Amino acid sequence: MRGIESHAVLPDANADEAARENFCRDLSIRLEAGLRPRLRRIYEEQVGPDLRKSGKEPGFREIAKAMRHVPLNKYWYRIRTDNQDRMYRVTGDLIDRQLETLAAKARATPKNLGSLTIDPAFKMPAYLTEIDIHRKPGGYHTEYIEDDVASGAQYERTISVHNMGSQGPRNDDPGHSIADWIKQKFPALKPKRILDLGCTIGNNTLPYAQAFPDSEVHGIDCSAPCLRYAHARANALGVDVHFHQMSAEKTSFPDGHFDLVVSRILLHETSRAAIPNIFRECYRLLAPGGVMLHCDAPQFDEFDAYQASLRDWDANCNNEPFMLTVYTLPLEEMYADAGFDRSKTFRDYAPSRFFRAHNTDPNATRSGGRYFFTGAAK
Ligand SMILES: C[S@@+](CC[C@H](N)C(=O)[O-])C[C@H]1O[C@@H](n2cnc3c(N)ncnc32)[C@H](O)[C@@H]1O
Repeated sequence: MRGIESHAVLPDANADEAARENFCRDLSIRLEAGLRPRLRRIYEEQVGPDLRKSGKEPGFREIAKAMRHVPLNKYWYRIRTDNQDRMYRVTGDLIDRQLETLAAKARATPKNLGSLTIDPAFKMPAYLTEIDIHRKPGGYHTEYIEDDVASGAQYERTISVHNMGSQGPRNDDPGHSIADWIKQKFPALKPKRILDLGCTIGNNTLPYAQAFPDSEVHGIDCSAPCLRYAHARANALGVDVHFHQMSAEKTSFPDGHFDLVVSRILLHETSRAAIPNIFRECYRLLAPGGVMLHCDAPQFDEFDAYQASLRDWDANCNNEPFMLTVYTLPLEEMYADAGFDRSKTFRDYAPSRFFRAHNTDPNATRSGGRYFFTGAAK
C-alpha cells in the first residue's frame, strides 16, 4: 500500500495528521481483511443454517437482518461507523487548518489547460443535499468561503484512506483500468470527445485524457468546490480537461456530441427517479457508434446473497439510502428503455492496473482488484 502522491494543490498533512490518517486506513484494512472472513464463517456455520430451517433460501435483506444480531457483526458495524466519522474528522481538521491557503493555492495555479464553468444558477438535486452522504459533514457541495475548494481537497485525502491506498497514489486506477478495457474491447473507437459524469475532482477523468490524447475530455459534477479543485489539480498535473457544473440528468451539450460517456461510482449516489434520466441523457449525448459505460460496485446478481447483504452497513449506517435499490435494478433493460439496442449492452470487470503492478492482497481492497461496470454501445 502506498500513500498519496503530492502535487501543487494537495492539502498538506503534518506528521500527526498523517499518522491519524494511517490509523484510519490500517483499521479499515483490519476490518476488511481480518474480520470480514470471520463474519462469513459465522454466517455459513450458524446464521445461514438457522435461516434455512424455514425451508427457503434467505435473501440478502433477511441475511442482513439476522446478522445484525451477531455480536461480532455489531462490533464490526460500530467500529466501521466510528472509523468513517474519524476519517472525516481527521481529514476535516487538516482542511480547516488550511482552508484559505487551499483556495489561494487553487486560484494561483496557472490555468493553461482546459476550462472551468461554474453555473451560479445551478440547483443541487435534493438527493445530494438532504443527507450528509457517506456521513461527510456538508456533503460534496457545501461552500465555506469564496472560491472554496475544501470539499474537493478533502475528497482527495479521504478516498486514499477509504480505498486503503489500493487505487494508486493518485486514486486514478479505476480510470486507467477501464480505459485499458475500452481500448481492448472497442479498438475502432477513436473518441473525438469524452464525457465523465459525476467526476468530483477528476481523479478518474484525467486517465481518459491520458489514454486518448487526441480527445477533448469533459467532466461534469454538481459540486462547485470539487470542480474548482479538479480544474486546479488537472493543471497542476499537466492534464487538459474541461470541467462544468451540470447535472448528469440534463446537460447543455448538443445531441451526439460525445463518442464516449463514462461514470464511476455516480449511479448509487443519485436516486430511483434520476437514473432513467441519466441513461436517456447518455443516449442523447452519444454519437452513433459511441459507447456509454457506468462503473459502480457490482450488481447484486453478480454474487451470492450473503455478499449482497454486506451493503446493509452502507445503506443503513453510511447514509447511502439508494444503494440497496440501485444494485438490484435491471440496468441492461433500463438501457434499452433509454433507446440503446439491448444486444449492444454489456457488463464486465476491468482488471486493476495498480493491483497487477503491485500484487496487492485482494482481501485488503474494496474492489477485489477489479472494477465492475455495465454499459451499451449506440
Ligand atoms: C462518489 S463521487 C464520484 C467519484 C469520482 N467519479 C471518482 O471516480 O472518484 C459521486 C459524485 O457524483 C456527483 N453527482 C451526484 N449526482 C450527480 C448528478 N446528477 N450529476 C452530476 N454529478 C452528480 C457528486 O457531486 C459526487 O461528486
